[in-house]
Amino acid sequence: MAFLTSLNGVKAKKIFLAFFTLSSLFPILIAIFMVNNYIVPLIGSAQAGLLDDSFYLGLSAMLFFSLISFFLMYRWLHTLEHVTAKIMTMSEAVSKREGEFGAQHIDEDHEFAASSSEKQTEENEIHTLIRSFNTIFQTAADQLAERNHLRELLARLIGIASSLTAELDFDRLFPLIVGNVTEAMLAERTSMYVVDSENRELWTKVSEGVKQIRLPLGQGISGRVAETGETLNIVDAWELPYYDRSFDQNNNFRTRSVLCMPIKNRSGEIIGVLQVINKKGKDHFDEEDESFMKGLTSQIAIALENSILVDEILLSFNSSMSTLSAIVDARHHFTAGHSERVKEYSLMIAATMNLPKEEFEPLKYAALLHDIGKIGIRDEILMKAGTFTAEDWVEMKSHPAQTKTILDNFHFPRHLRDVPELAYRHHEKVDGTGYPDGLAGNQLPMGSRIIAVADVFDALTSRRDYPKYAFGQTMDSELMSLELVIDILLKESGSHFDPQVVSAFMQSLPNALIRYRGEHFTHDYVDDTLRRLNPELLSDQKLAASEPNKRQ
Ligand SMILES: [Fe+2]
Ligand SMILES: [Fe+2]
Repeated sequence: MAFLTSLNGVKAKKIFLAFFTLSSLFPILIAIFMVNNYIVPLIGSAQAGLLDDSFYLGLSAMLFFSLISFFLMYRWLHTLEHVTAKIMTMSEAVSKREGEFGAQHIDEDHEFAASSSEKQTEENEIHTLIRSFNTIFQTAADQLAERNHLRELLARLIGIASSLTAELDFDRLFPLIVGNVTEAMLAERTSMYVVDSENRELWTKVSEGVKQIRLPLGQGISGRVAETGETLNIVDAWELPYYDRSFDQNNNFRTRSVLCMPIKNRSGEIIGVLQVINKKGKDHFDEEDESFMKGLTSQIAIALENSILVDEILLSFNSSMSTLSAIVDARHHFTAGHSERVKEYSLMIAATMNLPKEEFEPLKYAALLHDIGKIGIRDEILMKAGTFTAEDWVEMKSHPAQTKTILDNFHFPRHLRDVPELAYRHHEKVDGTGYPDGLAGNQLPMGSRIIAVADVFDALTSRRDYPKYAFGQTMDSELMSLELVIDILLKESGSHFDPQVVSAFMQSLPNALIRYRGEHFTHDYVDDTLRRLNPELLSDQKLAASEPNKRQ
């Protein structure tokens, strides 16, 4: 850089001018001085005139050639300075990583460089310099473009990875992956399959633009990749003997290029297959596409595993909660299934009331676990047949507080932190005459008001050992007629129950009856009411449609 700087600008020209003066003009001035002071006095004035003529002619010629060479040297120096300046500018840009180097180029046909007559035959050093620097710039430009491209791919990969790993819901993860991959791979279509090794099948939830598909392992492109674990990069799928064109023909699609890759988990097991179809703008997917998709599949594997893990944790949490509630219900054969039904009724009411989505889950677990405190009630009370004494009631009425104590010891996730409170207040009444605290109206969480209706409805429509206790009169322990139950709910609306909840329950009642018709309820018990409220539900078609729900 010091060398370039010394060549640059006025400084170089000054050095050159001093050099020229010393090497050309100074010797001429010495020659004039020598001739005039020593040679002319020596040879005499007779021949001095002749000497003068030839001497000054010679001097003029020397001066002329010196000036010509000065002029040429000066121009050469100017060219060198020009090139150096350009190199310096570009070098600075390189060091600052600025600009697009692809466009940087020193013109080899610069007027001074081109004007040299030696250009055709000899290697001009300026040209060599220009060429070598142009090569450097081109290399820098290529490397920068490559680096920018890689940076862009990496940013895209990181973006996709973070959005995928943030999504833990299996149903939402599928379309998210498919959409992202199609965009990132510049493909027309993407399919992702999950391996079902038990059934030796591949299945997909979403395949953009086409319906759900299940494939046997080993069949077709995806089936082969899932079986062998090898990547397939195909230019034209229709050339493959094992490719089934009927799928394309049925969906009015033409599959050409295909890149199909296994999705492997951390232990190397193939958990799925990712397939992109028809590269846009090219006739096939290249090596770069392969490495990029490899990066994608490793992120997808993590996201898939996470969501499967979350599903399993949720499944295990749900089954633990259901088991806990069933343990309490199972202490007495008449209360079997009580908590599960209260949960179902509560969710039906919440759906009818269009409760905010985030209130459903707390309600579900609170309804399921509302009576878990009964685990602390002695058998003599819980199993007692006949009327309760005042002491019996004191113990029986302690169960909501015991429920809260038990549930407070649970580590519920943040979105379920209201569960203990909702369950605790299921025996409160909107007029403030309930227990444990006698809270009224809006002081009571909506979830508790919903569970209260569902709980009483199930108690009245189920057999109990003890007389029905909620109505200030002694009734038998058999299940009440639905007509009477409805009557009681409506009458207690505004005193015991929130009228809004009762109204929502009345709307969902036909579905609640159908839900347990033939299971908890006999046909005889519910059919009259159903015929009165919604006879359509009893049509064969509707009954058939409700069957799958019952198996869940
Ligand atoms: Fe209770
Ligand atoms: Fe209950």
